[in-house]
Amino acid sequence: MHVPSLIEKKRDGAELSADEIGSLIAAFTRGEVADYQMSAWAMAVFFRGMTPQETQHLTTSMMRSGRVLQYPAGSPSKVDKHSTGGVGDKVSLVLAPLLACDDVWVPMISGRGLGITGGTLDKLESIPGFNVSLDEQRAMQQLERIGVFMIGQTADICPADKKLYALRDVTGTVPSQALIVASIMSKKLAENLDRLVLDVKFGRGAFMKTRAEAEQLAHSMTEVGELMGVGMSCLLSAMDEPLGRTVGNALEVAECVEILQGGGPEDLITLILDLAVKVSSASRDGLAAWLADGSAWRKFVQMVEAQGGVAASLEQLAAFHRAPCVQPVLAESSGTVAKMDAEAIGRASVLLGGGRQKADDVVDFAVGFSQLKKVGEPVDAGEPLMMVHARSDAAFEAVLPLLRSGMEVH
Ligand code: URA
Repeated sequence: MHVPSLIEKKRDGAELSADEIGSLIAAFTRGEVADYQMSAWAMAVFFRGMTPQETQHLTTSMMRSGRVLQYPAGSPSKVDKHSTGGVGDKVSLVLAPLLACDDVWVPMISGRGLGITGGTLDKLESIPGFNVSLDEQRAMQQLERIGVFMIGQTADICPADKKLYALRDVTGTVPSQALIVASIMSKKLAENLDRLVLDVKFGRGAFMKTRAEAEQLAHSMTEVGELMGVGMSCLLSAMDEPLGRTVGNALEVAECVEILQGGGPEDLITLILDLAVKVSSASRDGLAAWLADGSAWRKFVQMVEAQGGVAASLEQLAAFHRAPCVQPVLAESSGTVAKMDAEAIGRASVLLGGGRQKADDVVDFAVGFSQLKKVGEPVDAGEPLMMVHARSDAAFEAVLPLLRSGMEVH
């Protein structure tokens, strides 16, 4: 393999063969392709795109760069969900234990926050003691015992993606559809799933700004999944306002506890059930009953305990992490909430410390927003549109203009 020729071939818009892509990814994983060459290749892919065949070969090569989970013969169906990421998107925390109430296994490998979108692992780590880094043997034992684990990408799963993503992040090559599809699907395929549901978000607080872009991404991910024998389903969902009524790690876990105990906001419950029904063999009513009767809550507690978390902290998590400054943003006039901009709220959350501005930033679990009003709700002048949880009054004051610019009452 001659790496410069592969870069030139892609730069000139030609199609790479399965062998060429496979050799490139294998050599890159072994450390035999320089970062500058791989970055140049990624930029060529960014500009030239990839055919469906190339995208499939890239996905499978990245999947094969590491381990693919193996299950005992006769084990139940393996199911999972992937969201392309949103603000206040805490669906996984409820969905995984809910699905595990059925006779399926949920081997969920999740990520950390990316840009303004929150990450499941950061949220889980706000639970004292919760360990997202189980080794494969322990994860498998947990799956056999309670049917669900929620962990991060291990060193042996898709190492090629880990390396390539780090390069993309700093070379302007993240928003390439082929690279996104391969990155997401290689990790999901390494879970060796029977069924996968995709939640592809579009709108101000999402990676894909338009429905058309989200449709294209969904189509491409579905195509690759189906070619690999996974039963794929897909939902496109709007991300113009945050999901639910909280944004921020511990605050979001607290909201999930509410849902798992039979309460919680309507928009979130609807989306959770819409997604769950696509991969579960239970009916929508059956799934709703598991939320209402505490079955999913008990499964969540079991999972938290199995992964070293302090289950007794769950019902007091918001108080446990309470930020020093909790202040309302008040409506300046009466009317109906017309805008609650997910992008502005997501950016404000990162500025408060709830997300990362640099890769090695430590996430502040306590900060964020609660009691968010939803678009379409009535509000009186002087009533809170949200509560801001900040480390200090200065931090609150600093994000106030951004928050105000993202809210409208008519
Ligand atoms: N999430 C991923 O894991 N990879 C991408 O490329 C984009 C989102």
